[in-house]
Amino acid sequence: MSKTRVAVLVSGGGTNLQALIDYEKSNNANYEIVIVISNNKQAYALQRAKQNEIETAVISRKDLQISQKEWEEKIINKLEEKNIELIVLAGFMSILSEKFTSKYPNKIVNVHPSLIPAFCGKGYYGLKVHEEVLKAGVKVTGATVHFVNEIPDGGKIIAQKAVEVKENDTPETLQKRVMEEAEWKILPEAVNEICKK
Ligand code: GAR
Repeated sequence: MSKTRVAVLVSGGGTNLQALIDYEKSNNANYEIVIVISNNKQAYALQRAKQNEIETAVISRKDLQISQKEWEEKIINKLEEKNIELIVLAGFMSILSEKFTSKYPNKIVNVHPSLIPAFCGKGYYGLKVHEEVLKAGVKVTGATVHFVNEIPDGGKIIAQKAVEVKENDTPETLQKRVMEEAEWKILPEAVNEICKK
């Protein structure tokens, strides 16, 4: 069976990208990461891709000084050039417009570091999510993998995993636990399952 051709979109450290790479290598995965696209040329995720001989592209709206529409068109051109069948947002910190998301219904997957619908939507990303979780004093948080539509963090939920919040957590210790116990597991498993179909 041929493997589903996946593009991973990143902005930062790329530990979720690493989890996808490691899963692909150690399992007979149903997917193949064909390209890693970053909106930030400094993203360490690009080094991770290169170390694993995966093609990379940097498409930065800021560097290119282009509109959202032009930026999205450049990404679409790259996805089409590579015959991409599934797009995975793994720590991708830009919001894609409805014009983009409506082109790929049920073909874009995102990982979010909370139990949606809590602590999500516009302004909730990265460490900020964990800061808000600690401020609210909730005892359980987690991660969610979902399809991406025009509503930020509002698409159909695919997988979730709960993680305990501990008494003396800082945003950093909580982020690490959520990644280790939830994100790095449910993201590759969910992507693999989707790519089976
Ligand atoms: C991850 O925790 C991811 O869930 C989150 O940013 C971090 C990226 O880490 N994404 C969002 O907040 C998106 N709204 P990584 O670059 O090491 O994968």
